[in-house]
Amino acid sequence: MGVVGLASTFLLAALVALCSAARSDAPRGVAIGFVFDPKAKCEPQCDHGGICIRNNTCYCSKGYEGETCQYANCYPKCKNGGACLRPGKCRCPPGFGGRYCHKVTCDGGCWNGGECIAVNGAAKCICPSSWSGSRCQEAICPQGCRNGGLCVAPGICSCPEGWLGGACHTAVCAQSCLNGGKCISPDKCRCRPPFSGPRCEEKKKYH
Ligand SMILES: *[C@@H]1O[C@H](CO)[C@@H](O)[C@H](O)[C@H]1NC(C)=O
Repeated sequence: MGVVGLASTFLLAALVALCSAARSDAPRGVAIGFVFDPKAKCEPQCDHGGICIRNNTCYCSKGYEGETCQYANCYPKCKNGGACLRPGKCRCPPGFGGRYCHKVTCDGGCWNGGECIAVNGAAKCICPSSWSGSRCQEAICPQGCRNGGLCVAPGICSCPEGWLGGACHTAVCAQSCLNGGKCISPDKCRCRPPFSGPRCEEKKKYH
């Protein structure tokens, strides 16, 4: 072994000792005191700046591992199914973010006080009791909105013309029904016998 080889061996050994002290799980398959062969050939070549120290044995740079140093290491590990792109850099699946994919992100956000959490590996809005929908964008009207009314806020119906009330259940007759008649739909009276007419204003004659 020449002077260059010896110097290289010393340098590498020092490097390994340093790495081992800093992190016990650093380069795989290489122990302190290995023999560095300057004529060594690695096929395929060592990736990501790894050094070929023996035939088909790579000494990987910090942050890489695998036979040919082909895999990047991420510490902490990428969470929630994220892939390690290069040391310390995770690519996160949809719905997750942050340096380690540890943060859950709901597409479009959660509205009206909804909370974004991970449910079975997928981001999901958990809505307050009076809201629903994928983003908690839909108000809930427990009373229901009838006759074409729309629930616009929790418990609040927006009623079409001719209807009133919390559930749009009360018809409006512009002119009130007379003689005990009842307004059953917009401007329509249901009359009590013997009355009739649009406002129950006529009394039928019986023979
Ligand atoms: C490494 O491989 C080459 C051929 O690719 C061979 O000539 C050499 O002897 C091998 N070295 C060792 C230490 O096995």
